Amino acid sequence: MDTTELVKDLQEMRESGHLSDPILRRAVRNLSEEDRFGWVGVYLWDEEKNRLWLHNYVGEPTEHALIEPGQGVCGTALEKGENMNVPDVSEVENYLACSPDVQSELVVLIKAGDEVLGQIDIDSDEKAAFAEEDEQAVQLVADKLAEVIMADRRE
Ligand code: SME
Repeated sequence: MDTTELVKDLQEMRESGHLSDPILRRAVRNLSEEDRFGWVGVYLWDEEKNRLWLHNYVGEPTEHALIEPGQGVCGTALEKGENMNVPDVSEVENYLACSPDVQSELVVLIKAGDEVLGQIDIDSDEKAAFAEEDEQAVQLVADKLAEVIMADRRE
């Protein structure tokens, strides 16, 4: 997959005056157009409440709107400060299932320097759906989102 165009769109939205909120929504909606991606969402980190909260998503409803550090794939990525590419979610002990159909999951952190601002979470109904190139492509989007979130803070 190629996210170059999407990153450009997000940048154009920023330049035309949009704040991060609609830019986060556009990123999720656009990523969800990829066939292999069954569920796509952005979680943001709430430092005060010490948890991730689900900002927006495309896909089945989920019970996991709030996730604490260490919980599931999302909370583990947050705690470790690392992306997670899980080829088979049935092998994850503390997995938080959004739907029984999900087979694999990719979590890419939205980071500004060492600070974790949130993450892009993608589920697939296919096993091992995510290649290294997918992670890199999604990382480009996550980095752009980090930039616009930080810019909001300064305004
Ligand atoms: N599967 C994630 C939770 C998010 S839902 O899939 C939407 C996890 O284990 O952290």
